[in-house]
Amino acid sequence: MPYPEIRPRRLRRNPALRRLVAETRLSPAELVLPMFVKEGLSEPRPIASMPGVLQHSRDSLRKAAAEAAQAGVGGIMLFGVPTAKDATGSGGIDPNGVLNVAIRDVVGEVGDATVVMSDLCLDEFTSHGHCGLLAEDGTVDNDATLAAYAEMAVAQAAAGVHVVGPSGMMDGQVGVVRRALDAAGHQDTSILAYAVKYASGFYGPFREAVESSLEGDRRTYQQDPTNLRESLREVELDVAEGADMVMVKPALPYLDVVAAVRAAVDVPVAAYQISGEYAMVEAAAANGWLDRERVILETLTSIRRAGAQITLTYWAVEAAHLLRRNY
Ligand code: PBG
Repeated sequence: MPYPEIRPRRLRRNPALRRLVAETRLSPAELVLPMFVKEGLSEPRPIASMPGVLQHSRDSLRKAAAEAAQAGVGGIMLFGVPTAKDATGSGGIDPNGVLNVAIRDVVGEVGDATVVMSDLCLDEFTSHGHCGLLAEDGTVDNDATLAAYAEMAVAQAAAGVHVVGPSGMMDGQVGVVRRALDAAGHQDTSILAYAVKYASGFYGPFREAVESSLEGDRRTYQQDPTNLRESLREVELDVAEGADMVMVKPALPYLDVVAAVRAAVDVPVAAYQISGEYAMVEAAAANGWLDRERVILETLTSIRRAGAQITLTYWAVEAAHLLRRNY
């Protein structure tokens, strides 16, 4: 009798069989493209540590946002880089600040062809690079920061953003933002909470992208990479405070956390494949050490398989095109 009788390889024999039994499928609709816009630029500018990603001008941002919508990506996440930063990050609240202007531009351009989201945090706007306001002793003052986030959220909603993404890891930020939005008549603006955000070395290239000169580190507010259960607590709090969706960040080094969060809650779960995850693959591919396109899709598939139904990725548009070709 031939042995073995049961042969899992039978279903791997050719692409048609493999496609038929695929357990995980990616689609452009679940991908969100993070985009940077810098105040005062007339031409877009490359970001050295993120080859292929740009600091946009107002014009190039509008155009690139329209292209992303055209490619079928599910959403866009906007980050603003102001020309002048100050201790309180006032550029984030100013209705004429770079991010709020960009929101109006992009919403005007794409309408509701794709979901427009904005980062709701102070680190792009503060001279010290922290996500909040500093107390006299130099620590980040949680509750003073909440008041600033509330104002920022209302300014972003007034500019027309569909979803705000509070990402500063201050305690109570989702509740404060929800109440502020509701009080200002923006009941329909959603919150994608960066509920789980680890103090990660993988944010490195992002600092270049937003020209942040961080003094010290973020370990007193972002989470310690050793912890998993703490993330479930963060998620539980954010859902209770009114988060419509929750995010885990970074993605690839924290797939166990993505899976645990997926199992714990019923709201949509997102994961953010961050700047360092992008840079790592681009650098290896540039050296000829990895098959770039294959690895891009493999990383996105693994994030999906872990349980994220939305993925923020700097490859969103390219992946959308690759998916059309490969499926
Ligand atoms: C906070 C924010 C950061 C990122 C997204 N939102 C930086 C940080 O928290 O340190 C990082 C994204 C990336 O690295 O791609 N404004």
